[in-house]
Amino acid sequence: MATQLFCNNFAYFLLPIMLLTCAHSITEEVDIEVLRALKDCIDPNSILPLSFLETWNFEMDPCESGGGHFLGVMCTVPKENVPCRVTEIDLDGARYDGFLTQQIGNLTELTVLSLGNNMFRGPIPESVSKLEKLTTLAIQGNYFTGTFPKRFGKLKLLQVLDVSHNRLSGPIPPMISDFRSLTILRLSGNAFTGNIPDLHAVWKLSTLDLSSNMLYGPLPKFPVNLRELVLSHNILTGHVTPIQNQAKLRILDLSDNRFSGAIPHGILSLPKVAFVNVSVNRFTTLEVSKFNGQETQLQTLAARGNRLQGHLPVNLVTVDNLTSIDLGLNRFSGVIPLEYGQKLEMSWQSLYLDGNFLVGNLPPQFTSENQRIRGSISHNCLTCPLTILLCHGGQRTAEECLAQN
Ligand SMILES: *[C@@H]1O[C@H](CO)[C@@H](O)[C@H](O)[C@H]1NC(C)=O
Ligand SMILES: *[C@@H]1O[C@H](CO)[C@@H](O)[C@H](O)[C@H]1NC(C)=O
Ligand SMILES: *[C@@H]1O[C@H](CO)[C@@H](O)[C@H](O)[C@H]1NC(C)=O
Repeated sequence: MATQLFCNNFAYFLLPIMLLTCAHSITEEVDIEVLRALKDCIDPNSILPLSFLETWNFEMDPCESGGGHFLGVMCTVPKENVPCRVTEIDLDGARYDGFLTQQIGNLTELTVLSLGNNMFRGPIPESVSKLEKLTTLAIQGNYFTGTFPKRFGKLKLLQVLDVSHNRLSGPIPPMISDFRSLTILRLSGNAFTGNIPDLHAVWKLSTLDLSSNMLYGPLPKFPVNLRELVLSHNILTGHVTPIQNQAKLRILDLSDNRFSGAIPHGILSLPKVAFVNVSVNRFTTLEVSKFNGQETQLQTLAARGNRLQGHLPVNLVTVDNLTSIDLGLNRFSGVIPLEYGQKLEMSWQSLYLDGNFLVGNLPPQFTSENQRIRGSISHNCLTCPLTILLCHGGQRTAEECLAQN
């Protein structure tokens, strides 16, 4: 708070000088004032040579000056007798240390506000909700605190909203579902709590990243066009069956939550899905039916650290594009299917089955000399010669194996 006051006072002192230098400028004077206030709220010691803000030299006109001045600022095209307005602020990530001025709300023609990877602190100013033409708000990788401004719902033209990796908290405001133009929403790496609001009305949304927050409760309905869904590192619960309808999904990360029940075949068989990480949850079954040809594009399946039991799914070998498998730290029992051996030789590049209760001998390909696969089958109840790299780490004790099998 004290520093914010300091910002305002500082701007006030400079005002008369500024009005003089900009008297004949082509840029709207209010806009020049905002740019100056923005720079004045940054610790000058953090504005390094060759950074964008260093080029903001107010002896020039922001919209008129060409060359290397006012980097990161875009304006409307000059017209006779109409002052130019600032339309974009797209700062470099140069670790600028300071606050975002309340005056930002005066840049009413602003469509892009991009301040990522700096050291902005304090709240997102309430006045941001006056920027009704904003299509991109990207303030990721800063130290913003608090919640979204109260009237944030007025920014109905937003297409990209990225506030990831800040210190924001509180519930995710349900009004986000009114942002019908939104295609990218990243709220990851904050301290948001509560349920995930129903976003299925945000039908254009293609990227949703809510990872590393404190969100809990069951999954809501998601919009149909999602390509990337990242919900890892939360406290989400319930079944994941709603995701079986996401026909366009390519990347799915549900890891490190408290999801339970089955990992349904319907998720692995989504037509576009290439990456699935459901590790570190409480799933008990992995459903893999037989695939015929190119039904799935799945390349990576990580289901490590669950409570998966029963035999290893033989049908995994019918997933044509699969190269990377992690089923470690589960409760699988029985033998390693012979079919896995062929895949090891042909196409699989990474296989982790460590920390289960698998028994018996290895398929012959596992013991071949020119074994190039990454992975581990240690900490099972296998006959696993330590000359084989995959066996390094050893097996469980006889007692452990007896107790489980
Ligand atoms: C600019 O914004 C500040 C803070 O929101 C406000 O007090 C001031 O009246 C605005 N100036 C103009 C010219 O709109
Ligand atoms: C899956 O998620 C876990 C936990 O978030 C992470 O440690 C692991 O690296 C991920 N696996 C892959 C293949 O990305
Ligand atoms: C899956 O494999 C087939 C050939 O087996 C290949 O044509 C296709 O491009 C692969 N898909 C992906 C997403 O890599």
